[in-house]
Amino acid sequence: MADADIGLIGLGTMGAMLALNIADNGFSVAVHNRTASKIPEFIDGAGPLKDQFSGHAELADFVQAIAKPRSIILMVPAGDPVDEQIEALRPLLDEDDLIIDAGNANFHDTERRAKVAADAGNPYLGIGVSGGAEGARFGPSIMGGGDKDAWDRVEPILHAIAAKYEGAPCATHMGPGGAGHFVKTVHNGIEYADMQLIAEAYGLMRDGMGMDAAACGKTFAEWDKGPLKSYLIEISGKVAQATDAETGKPVLDIILDRAGQKGTGRWTVIESQMLGAPVPVIEAAVAARNLSAQRDLRIAGAAAYSEPNRTLADGVLSLDDIEQALIAGKILCYAQGYDLLSKASAEYDWHLPMAPIARVWREGCIIRSAMLSDMAEVLEKEPDQNLALSAHFKKLIADNIAGLRKTAVTAQMAGIAVPALSAALAYFDQMTTARVTANMLQAQRDYFGAHSFERVDKDGAHHGPWLNQHL
Ligand code: 6PG
Repeated sequence: MADADIGLIGLGTMGAMLALNIADNGFSVAVHNRTASKIPEFIDGAGPLKDQFSGHAELADFVQAIAKPRSIILMVPAGDPVDEQIEALRPLLDEDDLIIDAGNANFHDTERRAKVAADAGNPYLGIGVSGGAEGARFGPSIMGGGDKDAWDRVEPILHAIAAKYEGAPCATHMGPGGAGHFVKTVHNGIEYADMQLIAEAYGLMRDGMGMDAAACGKTFAEWDKGPLKSYLIEISGKVAQATDAETGKPVLDIILDRAGQKGTGRWTVIESQMLGAPVPVIEAAVAARNLSAQRDLRIAGAAAYSEPNRTLADGVLSLDDIEQALIAGKILCYAQGYDLLSKASAEYDWHLPMAPIARVWREGCIIRSAMLSDMAEVLEKEPDQNLALSAHFKKLIADNIAGLRKTAVTAQMAGIAVPALSAALAYFDQMTTARVTANMLQAQRDYFGAHSFERVDKDGAHHGPWLNQHL
């Protein structure tokens, strides 16, 4: 029977959760999985929802089971598996059948795939789905990109399954082609930065103040009642207070300090460099993950330079100072992230909706936080102004920048690494300096490369007096 409302390929954790969410919202779903044995296993495990699924080991049967014009969600690993799955589907599709890549694709891949699909007469959507397995099951944040008509076709399903903020679905069409996957990439870059800033606060409490994991966790739980209220602060409080059943120790104390990464934060940094839109807090977060992975170097370095005593004297730094540092650091990081979104929107002619992006991030996604509501309001009024220059956030930064400065400097004096907090402060100090020292760079470039420079007192391209002296 060709009557499934939608099809879904890929019954890994995220795919299975999304399929259950779609069925839970009253839709019938045809499912397919490369490892066929997973299909009956999934449907048998679907409990009361099982009658809303039809499972198909054969791809052709799967396609035939979907009501026309067909919509098919791909939840397969990013990269070649997506291209392979599209190639297998292509000969089975009719014109106007829609492929929706809901994985963490690189937006350049999505741009390419959308063009190929259009040439074959098929619409194409690349959607960023955020919120992990829990979000996929009960309400993710959805950042859509691709044909608007195609989005409109599946919007009822996407709005039904999305997280809701005060009743509004956290699912929006962001723009054509790869726009949705680009917004998801920036979301992940900000996610990396939020996580790193929290990890640095944890390091200050652990190494500087001698607080045990549980005490750190209780502090995060307290901060979750204030301006830092967010999913990541909340879960950081929880993981810090968790105990390992095997050893009875805090789980944090038995986890190896070597971070993994699937690479989406790295993509954010690459795109920021290509667009000339600096995101130093995100860069610092990606670099910190990379350096954490070089554990042998760090062990050797600690031995070679005999680690200092990093304990802070009583009263040198307070928990309020660190909270203020996180508030200022978070705002400056988001200012950078939105600046990158704005530069990409102009470069790719996407017309990204800045305020709706903040609104869909208010619930369901990993970076969901109370501050995003204020960002949405500010961006509604001033979409193209750097967030840090808005009246609301200017005051919030002004009220907390002393805490950031004191925390970063105190940490640096004690040898406690705070790369993301330091990057936030350096960004603030540069963006609030009317005359930086790039005049020295221009002079050096002209001296060795005759690259010329602009003058402050007249137009045109100029050279320094040194040019003929050494050539
Ligand atoms: C989300 C997350 C998710 C992310 C994984 C792994 O929005 O739900 O960002 O998409 O890819 O959590 O992330 P890393 O391995 O890159 O940390």
